[in-house]
Amino acid sequence: MAFDPHSLRSHFPILAQQVHDKPLIYLDNAATTQKPMSVLQTMQDYYLTNNANVHRGVHFLSDKATNQFENARQRVAQFINAPQENQIIWTKGTTESINLVAYGLEHLIQAGDEILITSLEHHANLVPWQQLAFRTGARLRILPLTSDAEWQEELAHYFTERTKIFAVTQVSNAIGVHTPITTLIKKAKQQGAFTLVDGAQAVAHYPVDVVALDCDFYVFSGHKMYGPTGIGVLYGKQHALEVLIPYQTGGEMVSKVSYQATEFNVLPYRLEAGTPHMEGAIGLATACDFIAQQDREAMLAWEQQLANHVWVTLQKAANIEIYSPEQNATLVSLSVPNIHTLDLNAFLDSQGIAVRAGSHCAQPLMAQLGVSGTLRASFACYNTLEEADRFCDVLIEAIDLLNDE
Ligand code: ALA
Repeated sequence: MAFDPHSLRSHFPILAQQVHDKPLIYLDNAATTQKPMSVLQTMQDYYLTNNANVHRGVHFLSDKATNQFENARQRVAQFINAPQENQIIWTKGTTESINLVAYGLEHLIQAGDEILITSLEHHANLVPWQQLAFRTGARLRILPLTSDAEWQEELAHYFTERTKIFAVTQVSNAIGVHTPITTLIKKAKQQGAFTLVDGAQAVAHYPVDVVALDCDFYVFSGHKMYGPTGIGVLYGKQHALEVLIPYQTGGEMVSKVSYQATEFNVLPYRLEAGTPHMEGAIGLATACDFIAQQDREAMLAWEQQLANHVWVTLQKAANIEIYSPEQNATLVSLSVPNIHTLDLNAFLDSQGIAVRAGSHCAQPLMAQLGVSGTLRASFACYNTLEEADRFCDVLIEAIDLLNDE
């Protein structure tokens, strides 16, 4: 295997610590990844040398900060192949990006219209649409998770002339399934619907090309892709961003204000009210650089190999139900009959292993799977085969112990 996770680990000093007197094994990367030194250093340097409010001051530091901030926008645009940097709107993260779109499109939605999502969605790509449906009288419809073959047959039933918005995750955070987004987006576009792709679980692993995807909106968070928390992106096609009514108003998003009226600024500022998360944007661009500097094909193959290795090892162990796919996933999601996932989580934690147990903000999906939650081990570029093996050993030990109780 060409990819060497060991050589990357020195970039992530947090990984070198002991937890409960055991070496930390961090397998909760789908919740948030650790940050490389380059990202931490850039953000510190920003405060040490460049900090000033962007776009506002006419002084040396403000110019410097503004240049660095707008350069970050350019680099993020390049990272996802957005044609222009003004198509990158800074937000707090995926959740805020989706809310921004849901509020921004409200004026175009009427009673009887349909908003279509899938049964794989995180609450962040469900609740904003459900609430939009409540506010407007539109109908929220759910495209059920089935096998690929069945997806094809059922599509016509779900995409109708009433479909006004189609929102879909690229990769499920809870069970690692990929959705056939290209087919789905095409289908939605045939009906003239707006399309939004939740890329939160995809950007750290898969090269993203928003032009090839042809979606109207693509959203993601910095903190799941080696970047800082509190910063995320809403990418949109020009016409799609232009029809959004700003859901936050105030400074920076205006060009002319009187007591009688306000003229809004041009994109991207029109959708960015207030002082932005400047060091966050700069940190996120550095995270994009970090990913782009890796051999991405080898990195993805490595992460998938780790997940597959765990999948195969655990599949052989009795009594483990695995919900994530055997191939092409970067996480493993499982449950064990008669053992609460939180008990497994606690045992793993006592051995220094960080995973996530619970519904993963996807309660309707859990209900569909017939479980209250799953245990999820999710991999990043710095995880090693030794860590994957240790996770399997400790999990099997936990199951044996808890079954005997
Ligand atoms: N959405 C994050 C997860 O899947 C928090 O863990």
